[in-house]
Amino acid sequence: MTTFPNGFLWGAATAGHQIEGNNVNSDWWARELTMPGMELSGDACDSYHRYREDIALLADAGLTSYRFSLEWSRIEPVPGHFSKAELAHYRRMIEYCFERNITPVVTLQHFTTPQWFANDGGWLAPDASEKFQRYVKATTDILDGVQWVVTMNEPNMQAAIMTAMRRMQQSPDSQWQSPTVEGEEEKKQSHGEFLTYADPEIGRTFTAIHHAAREILRANISAKVGWTIAAGALTAVPGGEEKLLEIRYGKEDVYWEGSRGDDFVGVQAYSSQQVDANGLVPHTPYPDNTLVGTEYRPDALSMAVRHAWDITGGVPVLITENGIATADDNQRIRYTTEALQGLHQAMTDGIDVRGYLHWSLLDNFEWGHWEPTFGLIAVDRETFARTPKPSLAWLGRVAQHNELDIEVLS
Ligand code: BGC
Repeated sequence: MTTFPNGFLWGAATAGHQIEGNNVNSDWWARELTMPGMELSGDACDSYHRYREDIALLADAGLTSYRFSLEWSRIEPVPGHFSKAELAHYRRMIEYCFERNITPVVTLQHFTTPQWFANDGGWLAPDASEKFQRYVKATTDILDGVQWVVTMNEPNMQAAIMTAMRRMQQSPDSQWQSPTVEGEEEKKQSHGEFLTYADPEIGRTFTAIHHAAREILRANISAKVGWTIAAGALTAVPGGEEKLLEIRYGKEDVYWEGSRGDDFVGVQAYSSQQVDANGLVPHTPYPDNTLVGTEYRPDALSMAVRHAWDITGGVPVLITENGIATADDNQRIRYTTEALQGLHQAMTDGIDVRGYLHWSLLDNFEWGHWEPTFGLIAVDRETFARTPKPSLAWLGRVAQHNELDIEVLS
């Protein structure tokens, strides 16, 4: 029987910049206007105004949890000035979740920072932690009753984005390629310089910032606190064993180690990748590869969860992201079914997993690209009309029965 524990959270995730629209004070907005090859987020899904509709669709389908992020650049548009109106906006989102019996999982920072923070040196500036702490403290005013708070989303991917930006600045003729999207650029770089972003020192810097934020949250609110990590589900081909350990340490293990002492760790997994003696092996271009160029690997989720459990030494897991960029919704249901089967097996083997949040609720802005669609709901970008896909009703049914419907595979 693939039944999940009572109280297991079933939900979907989003991030402010990918769905809200018009985050004009964020570092990404500035970047989109200047970087060759980047599409604009623009109005995005206009979720800033339509969040009630989005949460209602999720709740009506039978899901029980919604993960979303606060947009720091809206809340603190200039250093030290906190907008009460924006904080009230996010409080209304939280209240609406409560009204609909939805457990909110609130991310305080999902890839974007205020433009002024980026201009001042971003995460590597000597006073970055102090600035983040000031913001984190301000958010505690609206987090009453929230049970799950994520300090930052995928600091390891943020480190990769920082490196990609640096590379763009060094060679201004190159085209933007998001590190979340595998492209020609990554393939060329993957046997060498691409790995520079995996410097463990950056991981230690992020860890210290996360720990300082955790302390503030624990002193002011009663939520469980953690961060989320991009899991590569890496494996070694013969001869690549040592390289695997080296790469994985800087890319993720230093971050898993950073979550020791947290109340939970957010595991985010999509695909798996091999490592040989030279480094990451580019994904083979199979016909069923996803729209971000990665291989169809639903088993990545259980591989990631097992690895996280191992390195964190048993920190409870929340699946804060898992999903697939595909135009074929049947493929999405199949992928998710297989991922959940693997997850269930990992839980049967003793791993403490508290919930599953699918990425993503909506088709949204994939960091410079609009084509990859991860959503359970399609969004018309002219009219902003929402059209739920069959996968939304399917996942809602799984949630309501707290049991996996495996007929879909037969
Ligand atoms: C990020 C999301 C992103 C997703 C799909 C994760 O790296 O947290 O913002 O859209 O993966 O690529």
